[in-house]
Amino acid sequence: MKCVKVPLNQLNDIRIKLMEEGLMNMDFRIKAEDDFGYIPINEDVDGYEIVDITLEAIKKVPHNFSELLEDELTLEEIENLRTSFDTIGDIVILEIPEDLEDKKQIIGDAALKFTKRRSIYMKKSAVKGTTRVRDLEFLSGVDDSVTIHKEHGARLKLDVREVYFSPRLATERKRVMESVEDGEKILDMFCGIGPFPIVIAKNRNVNITAVDINESAIKYLNENIGLNKLKGNIETFTGDIGKVSEGFKCKFDRIIMNLPGLAYTFLDLAVDLIEEEGIINYYEFSDSYDSGIKRLKEACLKKNKEVEIINTRKVKSTSPGEWHVAIDGKIKNN
Ligand SMILES: C[S@@+](CC[C@H](N)C(=O)[O-])C[C@H]1O[C@@H](n2cnc3c(N)ncnc32)[C@H](O)[C@@H]1O
Repeated sequence: MKCVKVPLNQLNDIRIKLMEEGLMNMDFRIKAEDDFGYIPINEDVDGYEIVDITLEAIKKVPHNFSELLEDELTLEEIENLRTSFDTIGDIVILEIPEDLEDKKQIIGDAALKFTKRRSIYMKKSAVKGTTRVRDLEFLSGVDDSVTIHKEHGARLKLDVREVYFSPRLATERKRVMESVEDGEKILDMFCGIGPFPIVIAKNRNVNITAVDINESAIKYLNENIGLNKLKGNIETFTGDIGKVSEGFKCKFDRIIMNLPGLAYTFLDLAVDLIEEEGIINYYEFSDSYDSGIKRLKEACLKKNKEVEIINTRKVKSTSPGEWHVAIDGKIKNN
């Protein structure tokens, strides 16, 4: 097995660096012997001593989640739990119903064996407050809430306890990215750790302005810019978009507004900041597209503009009868 040989006191730092660069081979165990550590790698890495030694393979025994829990829960309860899994990098976040709370440890341990991920957390609240972060309780594995999630070839580093991130929006991000053309000036008003900007700038030569009020989100976005090979540029700002936008010197060809509970309160600003024929990717929670389309039309009317609705989608279900909906509108002068 090809490994880099490193002094033991540098093992952890180099392990994290290689993992971030996607160079570490995760199928084998790191070995420490005498004063050296041996980190398995996928390909040759410049700047290190490369050696060939035998390492123990990490066993991948297939565990069936149902088998692990069949003495404790009904099949329906197990199935509901299984569909509540959110996997973010090597972390799994579970939603455990109140009536199963007394079995949370058994469930967490079973999820650890079943998923073979590093850490299992359970949701302790809904996403809340301005930063849309939820409370989490550590259940099993290693209590380390920082991870690197891979999405459409992009690496997204984040702390699940400090920032908002949903892997369930991956398809929506790809769809928006595919509609972007090279040369666009884009504003992501509520960028979080930057999944829209990173996925877009990885695939398109664009200029993106990315804003978030959560300092930690922008800290991770700045790291993510360094972790990915980007075709485009991303400039980041920490703060309230209402204030940050006062310093903008240009208008934008596209504005992404993924703050579905409150984005409508920023529509007037978005209509001010959009170029003629620019596109607003607007999101809200709703049981239909009607209210969102009405809000876009009203915001345009106030500025003597009009909107052509070019696409609508249900991004994901949020509760029975309610959806996270996407509405794409092209904004034109009257
Ligand atoms: C639902 S999250 C979406 C994050 C990201 N776009 C994504 O898809 O993962 C909304 C984000 O908006 C940020 N936010 C809330 N109010 C804001 C404001 N007034 N100005 C800038 N960012 C804001 C929150 O901190 C949060 O990261």
